[in-house]
Amino acid sequence: MPDLYRLVRPLLRALPPETAHRVTIAALAAGLGGRPREPDPPSLRRPLWGLDFPNPIGIAAGFDKDARAPEALLRLGFGFVEVGTVTPRPQPGNPKPRVFRLHEDRAVINRMGFNSGGLDALVARMTKRDRGEGIVGINIGRNRDSADSMEDYVEGVRRAAPVADYLVVNVSSPNTPGLRDLQARAVLEALLRQLLDVRAETGVSIPLLVKIAPDLKSEECTDIATVALETGIDGIVVANTTIARPPELRSPQAKETGGLSGRPLFAPSTALIAEMYRLTGGRMPLIGVGGVASAADAYAKIRAGASLVQLYTALIFEGPALIGKVKNGLPELLRRDGFASVGEAVGVDAAGGSHG
Ligand SMILES: Cc1cc2nc3c(=O)[nH]c(=O)nc-3n(C[C@H](O)[C@H](O)[C@H](O)COP(=O)(O)O)c2cc1C
Repeated sequence: MPDLYRLVRPLLRALPPETAHRVTIAALAAGLGGRPREPDPPSLRRPLWGLDFPNPIGIAAGFDKDARAPEALLRLGFGFVEVGTVTPRPQPGNPKPRVFRLHEDRAVINRMGFNSGGLDALVARMTKRDRGEGIVGINIGRNRDSADSMEDYVEGVRRAAPVADYLVVNVSSPNTPGLRDLQARAVLEALLRQLLDVRAETGVSIPLLVKIAPDLKSEECTDIATVALETGIDGIVVANTTIARPPELRSPQAKETGGLSGRPLFAPSTALIAEMYRLTGGRMPLIGVGGVASAADAYAKIRAGASLVQLYTALIFEGPALIGKVKNGLPELLRRDGFASVGEAVGVDAAGGSHG
């Protein structure tokens, strides 16, 4: 895929972002880029939640919303893939255009609005996959016109748990009205308790995580950390896209409505990882996501408290060679600082040590 990618890159860059994305997913689903992957260095192996992650770098939610190509993404070298966000019923999302490349800022703004083929189609694809290929999580959301958010997430857990390796409850996308209000303490606690009950009913004890926004006030962070620890969920994905517009943005598209991702999100989302790591006393595994575009970026997330790392936007600018670049650089950074494995470096920048 990397060689082929070099050839098609000018074409992809010339296409509108969403068309380029559709072509990429179709190519991956058709088996292009299907080289057997090389084994990852042992220092990158990350045992967590009873799963054995071959490396800590995953593709974030939103890239393969309908689970069309998780195996191909694993073959590109990702240590894990998060598909979704999937909504219970199919829905088209917002009118196009709804994705904007901010070239000067190495960023993207999207207001996709959970375009989704729905749970039936996604579960059917996930049922057919070869589970030996690697770790695939499912990120679940609610339909825009749903009268009852809780029911949508309940259905998501019930249907997705049997075919996923982990689940993420997405309460943080900025493009579904009211969604982020589910992060408020009492609401979140009720939602997560119910979803943990539903998971128990399914008899499938896969990890259940919640994905949070980078735009939370400090009391909200404290509340979420408390709820996460008290309910006993398995982890937190930090973070989704931001509605903030940092003053340094230079691209004309910076004024578009939606969630901003990529380089400008790196510093605030890494600071939020450090904050959540501190608030949870290092007892709650965190997946760090936001603006990762190099091994040094991934390493900074790990040192701030991320047990695993995800990326998306940098892939749009750099293509699949980025995955190798990040994975090749990480072992050297670990060795330089005297760590034998990723686990040893988790949270070392926070006072109070690491949970390994
Ligand atoms: C086009 C696009 C679509 C996205 N869709 C989703 C989604 O459906 N669900 C979700 O939880 N996050 C979604 N995200 C957010 C990413 O998963 C990630 O949290 C965010 O982009 C920050 O990482 P990055 O800077 O590496 O892109 C989307 C991001 C982009 C750019």
